Amino acid sequence: MEEDKKLSFVAKRFLPSPIQQLSLLAQQCNAINLAEGFPDFPAPLTLKNAAISAINSDFNQYRHVQGVCDELAKVVKKTHGLNVNPLTDFAICCGQTEAFAAAVFSVINPGDEVIIFDPSFDSYANVVSIAGGIPVYVSLDPPKWTFDPNKLLKSFTDRTKAIVLNSPHNPTGKVFSKDELDAIAEACCANDCLAITDEVYEYITFGDAKHVSLASLPGMHERTIITSSLSKTFSVTGWRVGWAIAPAFIASAIRNIHSRITDTAPAPFQEAALIALRSPPEYFESLRRDYESKRDFIAKLLVDIGFEVQFEPQGSFFLFVELPKSCTLTDVDCVEELIKQAGVVAVPGCGFFQTDSSREKGVNKDCSYQNRYIRFAFCKSNATLTSAAQKLSEAKFEFLKMH
Ligand SMILES: Cc1ncc(COP(=O)(O)O)c(C=O)c1O
Repeated sequence: MEEDKKLSFVAKRFLPSPIQQLSLLAQQCNAINLAEGFPDFPAPLTLKNAAISAINSDFNQYRHVQGVCDELAKVVKKTHGLNVNPLTDFAICCGQTEAFAAAVFSVINPGDEVIIFDPSFDSYANVVSIAGGIPVYVSLDPPKWTFDPNKLLKSFTDRTKAIVLNSPHNPTGKVFSKDELDAIAEACCANDCLAITDEVYEYITFGDAKHVSLASLPGMHERTIITSSLSKTFSVTGWRVGWAIAPAFIASAIRNIHSRITDTAPAPFQEAALIALRSPPEYFESLRRDYESKRDFIAKLLVDIGFEVQFEPQGSFFLFVELPKSCTLTDVDCVEELIKQAGVVAVPGCGFFQTDSSREKGVNKDCSYQNRYIRFAFCKSNATLTSAAQKLSEAKFEFLKMH
């Protein structure tokens, strides 16, 4: 059989992106990684000790740690006022990524439409497409990444099955406001549609911004699947412990699918999750404080070298900066220059946009705002951020200074 015939249609749809080529260049240049959303500093010692102790206690086999669901039920009651049944309303999965995929496979049929805000974390659209669903995009408009409630309402059709909401938001750092959540909730209820939330940055919010779970709004609990994980809150993206919380019949479907894909999340890390979820309030306060000071540091640095920061992140650990108007390079070219001239890598914004405003306006593709942003991840040690600052400040980015 020819190679081409051996691959499925799905596999052939996912081709290497320009961003992967940039990653390769970054590796060759040994660039400082401000691209990927994983911390490069140690995880909390108590968690590491809990995982070590679980391994030493021989928790080495397939395992469902019911205590994780019990703890999470207490957490969502306390933080969002939600009454969930720990025995029926949970699926523990391998990270939010698997929880989200299993949730989509549980509720989306081929031809179902799923509303996704644009820009967004790219895994949503990919998973929806694998399920045979059709992503329908609603733009978050720069500079504040707000959405037009009328556009949102118009994007619903009789085939709309679900909406995806990620707040705090990757890549922009937006935390959806109460008014915006109300508009989304009203649209969901009016159209009898489900919501799948991604709340992995729930504890990383700054200033007055506060994370409110969409499920806590009137009429939403019974139609929302919450997904989240330990990854970002506890700096353990490689431990692969996440969860879905949903009405019992949906949670049961998610567990059934999860057990066919990965069976269980890693046993020792589920045990450690018990300790993580019991962390005192001071842990979450210091997480916020540390990330807020990293945000301020990187924002000042990037403004000083010529980027525009029109929107200060309210949450997550990403800064989505704009190229100055005078800059004639695209986001992809600009990241290439950052790697070559300073040895620092970030992600071109185009990797997060699914629509192209130039098509509507009939302008050159390179001039659409989708090619004018770069995402910097500041979930890095102060030492990494300082050495990135030094390299970026020393480089002469003429293309950022042509005012
Ligand atoms: C918005 C968002 N959701 C989910 C994930 C992945 O989460 P997990 O490690 O729990 O699979 C990421 C990782 O970058 C993310 O940015």
